[in-house]
Amino acid sequence: MLNNLADIEQEITSCPVGNKEELEAYRLKYLSRNGLLTSLFEDLKGVSREEKPAAGKKLNEIKRMAEAKFNTAKAELEDKDTGSADMDLTIPGRSFSVGREHILSQTLAEMVKIFREIGFKVTDGPELEEEFYNFDALNTPAHHPARDMQDTFYVQDKNDRDKKYVLRTHTSPVQIRTMLKNKPPLRIVSPGKVFRNETVTYKNYFMFQQIEGLYVDKNVSMRDLKGVLDYFFRKFYGEKTVTRFIPSFFPFTEPSGQVDVSCFICGGKGCKTCKETGWLEIGGCGMVDPNVFRSVNIDPEEYTGYAFGMGIERLAMMKYGIKDIRTFYQNDVRFLDQF
Ligand code: PHE
Repeated sequence: MLNNLADIEQEITSCPVGNKEELEAYRLKYLSRNGLLTSLFEDLKGVSREEKPAAGKKLNEIKRMAEAKFNTAKAELEDKDTGSADMDLTIPGRSFSVGREHILSQTLAEMVKIFREIGFKVTDGPELEEEFYNFDALNTPAHHPARDMQDTFYVQDKNDRDKKYVLRTHTSPVQIRTMLKNKPPLRIVSPGKVFRNETVTYKNYFMFQQIEGLYVDKNVSMRDLKGVLDYFFRKFYGEKTVTRFIPSFFPFTEPSGQVDVSCFICGGKGCKTCKETGWLEIGGCGMVDPNVFRSVNIDPEEYTGYAFGMGIERLAMMKYGIKDIRTFYQNDVRFLDQF
């Protein structure tokens, strides 16, 4: 019987059980009540006394091996089963978004790069500003309408009631800080947040960002100002862009101008973005007022200079066709992800 058992062991080991049908055939043939193993245990009864212990031991080993093979194969087939029945391989994967720089930071970086290339240094100043820098030194006296509470956020100093602070209403106070600390020639740009007590609408926000420019040297003229702004806007909006100045008023520049650029969408013909005018209003500029020079102890007979200021949101809105300034600050990733 022992020889016979060795053959049977071999047979069971090599019997295929790769699918349900094969496994069932295997079970019926070897393990079932009428299977081969049951009948072998029957046969054991007729084996001689000498041979019986060894044959019985061997038969039990074969049985355990046959059952283990069955269980392993069954478990593997069930695993595969759940694989195809309970898993929908067509479901789209979970989406995730990769963080990136905010569109305003991108715009600002691009602007600063253009100015750096032509020799402007980047400086900054505080957002909580003294009235002196935001107004007085900028030739904006106490009675000036820009100082009205309706336009400006005032902050009271607890220890010194006479000293009033403001959330700066423009980046121009950086002009004063720069000129007080440094001697001309000076060539700086200064980006940063500014605050105005505005009703929030699609085009106005109580906080926005500006970039200030200042150049002070001997014999600086309006031509230099026009040249630099022309250059900047050609780089920023494209080579065909044209700039124009329209007379305007700021207390700290004389003469003062409003800067317009030809609409880069329609090329100046007139479209929705430029409200059919062919021009987009971009910011303010002018020659530094002699009174401003006096307030920072620079001799206006010796030096002249120009300054300009533009709203960064405005430039980005026009460049990217963004219709509502509030979207910059709501930080909805569906908006931010587009840039
Ligand atoms: N500070 C002005 C504003 O906020 C802009 C400006 C800057 C005008 C520099 C002239 C010179 O409107």
